[in-house]
Amino acid sequence: KAIVLTGITTTGTPHLGNYVGAIRPAIEHSRDADVQPYYFLADYHALIKCRDPERVRQSSLEIAATWLALGLDTENAVFYRQSDVPEIAELTWLLTCVTAKGLMNRAHAYKAAVQANEEAGESDPDKGVTMGLFNYPILMAADILMFNASKVPVGKDQVQHIEMARDIGQRFNHLYGEHFVLPEAVVGEETAVLLGMDGRKMSKSYDNTIPLFEPENRLRKLIMKIKTNSLQPGEPKDPDTCTLFCIYRAFATPEEVAQVRQRYAEGIAWGEMKQFLFEYLNEHLKAPRERYVALLESPEQIEKALQDGAQRARAVAAPFVQRLRASVGIRPLV
Ligand code: TYM
Repeated sequence: KAIVLTGITTTGTPHLGNYVGAIRPAIEHSRDADVQPYYFLADYHALIKCRDPERVRQSSLEIAATWLALGLDTENAVFYRQSDVPEIAELTWLLTCVTAKGLMNRAHAYKAAVQANEEAGESDPDKGVTMGLFNYPILMAADILMFNASKVPVGKDQVQHIEMARDIGQRFNHLYGEHFVLPEAVVGEETAVLLGMDGRKMSKSYDNTIPLFEPENRLRKLIMKIKTNSLQPGEPKDPDTCTLFCIYRAFATPEEVAQVRQRYAEGIAWGEMKQFLFEYLNEHLKAPRERYVALLESPEQIEKALQDGAQRARAVAAPFVQRLRASVGIRPLV
């Protein structure tokens, strides 16, 4: 069976970008009997950005409820919290010892932090950079290599990390024998980068996200706030540079997309397009939103699913780490 794996960092409420980039393709895979999926809540990753324990805890719950509300098949998929599988932290160390520092210097998240310091005229380019942020791609490599995932559905922003996981896995294999399968990122063409309300990539860091299960009235408000240009009703508009269209396209069928393209050519008014997008999304999200709200009221049900997943994940991870320990010359645990 092909192993498909992906994770979401538990620092906020899941948004439309997380859904189309990672969760939706992952859920589709979970229904395929030829695939063994591993999906998880990346709560160790959350600690890199978030020092608010209550937020980390609450976000784990919300993200777990999101997956379940969207119909994840937990019979087939192994669904767990990263921190419930301590072997992942152990593997992170084994990988850290074979990872070149120069590789980490090139990671986008680290480079962005350094660049922001330089632009702010800071004398120390590493100001505010923790070793957690710097080593982030190694923890992510451990997530992926632990389960020998061959495919990792993600948005475009994560592709570099998966390439790094390949590099790190390859280095370990070269030194200690063929232990790891080298993973590949799977990025959808239409969903690689969903745009946010201000027209930049939808991202928690830009504060421009549309949460997936926002109540109806708030969803409407957020969509009405999406930035558009100043073309008037009746003037032909370019869908391919339009945030509203970018979001619509990630949800609609090819026929629907073709029809809306035509309406852009005919000069649809922005107000009309916004109302149309709101109604379309709301229709799409209504049923899972109701399930989501109900699930959050029974956290014990969510916890039960996660505990079951952790057990299944550890049944694979624990013997694998024993083998890896032996391969580097460390005595397996008895
Ligand atoms: P995170 O939590 O930032 O995002 C979760 C997933 O959502 C995708 N995504 C998007 N896709 C399209 N358009 C957008 N605007 C958009 N914004 C976010 C991300 O690409 C990602 O797939 N480090 C990861 C979590 C992680 C992980 C892993 C993923 C930890 N270990 C192992 C895969 C495999 C992260 O912070 O994603």
